[in-house]
Amino acid sequence: MERAKNNLQLFDASSEVSNQEKTFLIHGIDKIPIYAENTSKYSLSFRYLGQRRHHKPDEPVRLLVKNNGESVELGPCRILSNTKLDGYGGRLVFMHDLYDFECLLGTNKILKLQTPFSDLPHVMARKDAIRPSFKEYTADLTYDLSVYKNLFDEMDLKYCEEPDEVRSAVQNAIIELEGPDFRRFFEDKLDKLKNLVDGFSQKEHQLHGFYFRKQLWNYILSCPFTARAALKPRGYAGDSELMRMVYLNDYQGDSTFSKITHKHAVEHTAAQSVRYRITLITQILHELKNFLPLPSPDKFKVLSVGCGPAFELKQILKSPQDCANYKFTLFDQDSAALSEAAEVASEIEKKLGATPAVEYVQGSVRLMLFSRKIKQKWGQFHFIYSMGLFDYLNSRVATAVLDRLYRLLKPGGELVVGNFHVSNSSKYYMQYWGDWVILHRTKKEFKDLFQNNSCGRVSVLFDDTGSQMFLHVKKPKMSV
Ligand SMILES: C[S@@+](CC[C@H](N)C(=O)[O-])C[C@H]1O[C@@H](n2cnc3c(N)ncnc32)[C@H](O)[C@@H]1O
Repeated sequence: MERAKNNLQLFDASSEVSNQEKTFLIHGIDKIPIYAENTSKYSLSFRYLGQRRHHKPDEPVRLLVKNNGESVELGPCRILSNTKLDGYGGRLVFMHDLYDFECLLGTNKILKLQTPFSDLPHVMARKDAIRPSFKEYTADLTYDLSVYKNLFDEMDLKYCEEPDEVRSAVQNAIIELEGPDFRRFFEDKLDKLKNLVDGFSQKEHQLHGFYFRKQLWNYILSCPFTARAALKPRGYAGDSELMRMVYLNDYQGDSTFSKITHKHAVEHTAAQSVRYRITLITQILHELKNFLPLPSPDKFKVLSVGCGPAFELKQILKSPQDCANYKFTLFDQDSAALSEAAEVASEIEKKLGATPAVEYVQGSVRLMLFSRKIKQKWGQFHFIYSMGLFDYLNSRVATAVLDRLYRLLKPGGELVVGNFHVSNSSKYYMQYWGDWVILHRTKKEFKDLFQNNSCGRVSVLFDDTGSQMFLHVKKPKMSV
């Protein structure tokens, strides 16, 4: 934290009260003014202001601070390394209640490290609402996975000293031999999960999902894919790194068990469907490009909304001529996703020796709805697609975004938007293992999102797995 490295104005920097009047050590009736010099998350180095000192380093003190206009006393604290050079007072650490200094300084919020413990009885009581059949299922699954994992781990230990080449040959042999059985075992468990939870209300899903992840946490973390989904390092599931895992569709992880569970996840129905959709996009795009006459040297303009890593560019841009023909606008809320998309574009450039024309725009579709000048800024597009985004948008927002995207289409242009169908057989795998909840829709619910009556043709396609739908809208050539 940059701010924490410098001399600090402690607390309520906006107020007129000077730092001198804001921070004190309290010891009995002594009130000793100090100056906060530096901080780590859970400690604070300080200098004395003026001549008064705390002379009994073994006796705890309290810290009086001004926070949002109010005096707050925190502590008790101990003073570490009480050297007295140049008025340096030492480093304060809390003894019981552990407050986060960085949070205090950054946001003026008083946050206690142990706060979650106060929630403990409530969290523990959550198990009382879990159905006995579900508890039994979870216990059996935990036991079976433990048996399986121990076996794989023991084998890994036996050949771990082998040279790299031998190790990976042995591991591949185990995966080939035992992988199919493990997959059947796992599929059977997922079927049972579906039978147990299919009729649950949303609230029951939340409760049982929470319980499930508490019980299965170690196994969830063993699998790189479910670990990333559940941990959500970027604050949401389904980030572009997770998408990359799906596209790579390989064995990842540092043990045989990890590799087998990861591969199982990235081969599951929803993942197949994600891979399928980039083929579909490429196909529709090429057909439209051949069909729409384009005066040279105009480029065929394409917009991807919620672009993620934009892996499909590898399928679309196969030659230097393709790079000359297309102009892509890639839109995503997540700057890391846009960076990954830029990496894909530079891989293409290296391979083809031609630079793809790509514009990267960071922003949220929700904000896009309020921006009146988008059409002036971006112009209109021949083709717009959005994959893996509408499953996160409620109907009101999804309808508004669809309408906005339709207006951004050139006459004769086409729009394709994906959404998982209620029958997605990976639904509970995602929800329970990965805490990855998306909005599944029926065909009618999905089609009803598009309410523009001036439109030419609207159809809903399904992929081969039947788990994902694609709304395909063709704008009439004569429209605006
Ligand atoms: C599941 S990923 C799909 C990525 C890519 N379209 C694909 O199919 O590989 C969803 C992407 O949508 C982006 N996203 C989610 N909500 C968004 C919003 N409100 N506005 C813009 N982008 C959003 C995420 O950052 C993420 O990169």
